[in-house]
Amino acid sequence: MKKKSIAVSLVVVFMLSLYTVESKAEEKTNKVNYSQDVIYQIVTDRFNDGNPSNNPTGNLFSQSNLHKYIGGDWQGIVDKFNDGYLTDLGITALWISQPVENVYAIHPQGYTSYHGYWARDYKKTNPFYGDFNDFDELIEVAHSNNLKVIMDFTPNHSSPALETNQNYVENGAIYDNGVLLGNYTNDGNGIFHHNGGTDFSSYEDSIYRNLYDLADYNYLNQDLDNYLKESIELWLDKGIDGIRVDAVKHMSQGWQETLVNHIYTYKPVFTFGEWFLGQNEVDNQNHHFANESGMSLLDFRYGQQLRQVLKSNQSTWIDFHNMIEDTNASYSEVIDQVTFIDNHDMSRFHSNNSNTVNVDMALAILLTSRGVPTIYYGTEQYLTGESDPENRKKMPSFNKSTRAYNIISKLSNLRQTNTALGYGDTTERWINDDVYIFERKFGNNVVVTAINSGNTSYPITNLQTSLPSGTYSDVLDSLLNGSDIHVNQNGSVTTFELQPNEVAVWEYTSSTGNVEVGHVGPMVGQPGNEITISGQNFGTSEGIVLFGDNQATIKSWNDTDIVVNAPSVEAGYYDIKIITHSNVESNIYSDFELVSNKLLPIRIVVEQAHTNLGTDVYIVGNIHELGEWDPDKAIGPFFNQVMYTYPNWYYDIALPINEKIEYKFIKKDATGSVIWESGANHLYTVPNSGTHTLITTWQN
Ligand code: NOJ
Ligand code: NOJ
Ligand code: CA
Ligand code: CA
Repeated sequence: MKKKSIAVSLVVVFMLSLYTVESKAEEKTNKVNYSQDVIYQIVTDRFNDGNPSNNPTGNLFSQSNLHKYIGGDWQGIVDKFNDGYLTDLGITALWISQPVENVYAIHPQGYTSYHGYWARDYKKTNPFYGDFNDFDELIEVAHSNNLKVIMDFTPNHSSPALETNQNYVENGAIYDNGVLLGNYTNDGNGIFHHNGGTDFSSYEDSIYRNLYDLADYNYLNQDLDNYLKESIELWLDKGIDGIRVDAVKHMSQGWQETLVNHIYTYKPVFTFGEWFLGQNEVDNQNHHFANESGMSLLDFRYGQQLRQVLKSNQSTWIDFHNMIEDTNASYSEVIDQVTFIDNHDMSRFHSNNSNTVNVDMALAILLTSRGVPTIYYGTEQYLTGESDPENRKKMPSFNKSTRAYNIISKLSNLRQTNTALGYGDTTERWINDDVYIFERKFGNNVVVTAINSGNTSYPITNLQTSLPSGTYSDVLDSLLNGSDIHVNQNGSVTTFELQPNEVAVWEYTSSTGNVEVGHVGPMVGQPGNEITISGQNFGTSEGIVLFGDNQATIKSWNDTDIVVNAPSVEAGYYDIKIITHSNVESNIYSDFELVSNKLLPIRIVVEQAHTNLGTDVYIVGNIHELGEWDPDKAIGPFFNQVMYTYPNWYYDIALPINEKIEYKFIKKDATGSVIWESGANHLYTVPNSGTHTLITTWQN
C-alpha cells in the first residue's frame, strides 16, 4: 500500500515538474512582436568554442585563416549564458548562423562554409555547431533566460556550383535528410536556375541568375518548394522564435509570400529579410517588399545613415532626421524594421584609427530609436575589421566592464520597461548639424535622447518635451557625460549645456493613459491565423477585437497582449481596433492584410504582348490578390528578359488555393495610362496544392 502511494505521488511530482517546464517554455511568449527586444547577432563559428571535440579537422579548420572554421558552436553560446555574459548584457534575442548542415568541400579559393550560408541538408544540423541535442539545449537555455532565438535561413540557393564542372565544391547538391534531392550539373528535375551569374543590372536579373556562384533555386519545382517549407517547419518545431531570411532581393516576392504564409499559418514567428542597400541608396522595391510581403527588412537606410553621421562624418544629424522621417513614410510598419550599426557584410563600426566613443554614441542612438535594434557580436568589445572575413574575427574577450557593454545593458533594460522605445513615434525636439534631441512617446511613456557629436559645447535653449515637470537623471548614469535636466510646468526644459561627445537619455514611465494598440504581428494572415495585438491598458477581462466590423475569436487576453484568430471574412485590408470589457475603444491600427486562403506559388506567363519602350505588362483580376480589377493595384511589372523573353512576359505571384479567378492583362506606361486586353476575361482555377505555370496569349 505504502509503496504504491509513494509511486503515485512520485508520478504526480514528475508530471507537475513536466508541467512547469512546459509552461515556462510556453511563457517565452511573444514570437511575433520584437519591438521591445534587442537582438544580438552571432556568427556561430566565431563566438565561442564550447566543445573542441566537434571541431572539423584538416583543411577545414584553422586558428589563423579566417576563411576556415575556427570552432565556435552552440555549446559555446550556452556557456556564455551560464557565466552571465549574455544575460547581463541585457539583450533579449540571439540571431545565430543558419544552423543546417553545410558543404564540407572547400571552395577553390580556399573558402569554407563556416558562415552557414552554403546549405547541404536543411533537415540536419551543421555538426561543427553541434547536434540536435545541443540545439535543443541552446533553445532551452535561451528560453529559460527569457531570450528568443532567431535562425538565419538561406532559401535562395544551396552552395557554390558551376554549370560545367561537377567537381566544383559539392556541385550545389542538396539532400532531404540524407537523400539526394538534386545537384547543379545533372539537374533533370529543374531544381535550379541555369541562367549564369547576375550582374545585378535589374531586379529580374538578380532574382533569376545566380548570386555569385551560388546554385540558385527554382521554386516552380514542387519537390523543392515542399522541401524548403518542410525544413522550416522542422526548425519551428525545434522552438525557434524568429527567422532572418537571407538575400530576399534575389527571390521572387511571390514565392516569399507563400513562404511567409506557410510560417504564419504553421507557427508564427517574427520574420525579417536581408535586402542590402548601399550608402544613400533608396529603393522603392525595397519599401514595397517590406510593406507587402509580410516580412520586415533589415533597415539598411537607418544603418547606413547612422554610420555616415558617427563613423565617416559624411552626414549631419539633419540628414539623419530626414532619414527618420522618410523611412517613417516609406515603411508602413517602421517599428518592425531591424536596425543596426554594422554586420558581417560591412566594415565593423569601430576601426583602429577611430575613438571608441563613436561606437558608444552610435549604440545609444540605435537602442533608443524606432525599429528592432541589433548588436553585432564583438561591437561591445570594440572589435575591428574592414571587409569580410576581417569583420568576422573571433570574439577577442568577454569583458563585462567596457562602456559599450554597459550602455547596451542599461538601454536594453529600458526598452523592456518603457514602451515608448518599442511602440512610440519619433519627434525631433532640437537639432543642428552636431546636436540631435529626439523624443519617443507611447501613451504617457516618454524617452528623450540628446546627443552632441560635435567638437564644441552647445547651450540647449527653448527645448520642449512631453516629460512631466520634474528633475530627470540620465538613464546612462553619465557613462557618456550626461547630466540631469529640469522640466518646468509648461514642458520647457531649463537651459543646459550639451558637451562634445555627450549623450544623455531621460525617461518617464507610466502605465496610466489611453487604451492604446502599439503593435500588431503579423500584419498579414489568412482566416484563422494567430495574430497578436500589443499595447497598454487592455484590462484583465476580455473585451472585443474588431477587424473592420468583424469580431475576431479571442484566444487569450491580458492587459498588454491579446491573441486572436484572424476572422473568416472576405480578403482585404482591415483596420484593427479593440473595445475593452469596460467599453473603452482603442486607437485604430490600420492596414492588416487578410489574404483569401493558403497561398501557392504560381508563375503567370503572357505571350505576344507587344509594347512600346517604357510600357510594362501587369495582371489584374477579380480577387483581392489580383487587385480586384483596379489597375492601380495590378500585379507587376512583369519581367521579359530571363525565364521568358519579349514579347513574352512572366511574373511569379502568390494565389489562394482552389480559387476560381477571372483575370486580364493590362499595359501601363510611365504616365500611368492603361490599355486593357480586349475580349472576355480569362478564367483559371488555382490548384489545391503544389506549384503551377499558367500560360496565356495576349488578346488583341
Ligand atoms: C547575404 C549574407 O549576409 C552574406 O553574408 C552571404 O554571403 C550572402 N547573403 C549569400 O548567402
Ligand atoms: C504603425 C502605425 O503607428 C499605426 O498607427 C498604423 O495603424 C500601423 N502602422 C499600420 O499602418
Ligand atoms: Ca567546437
Ligand atoms: Ca534567386
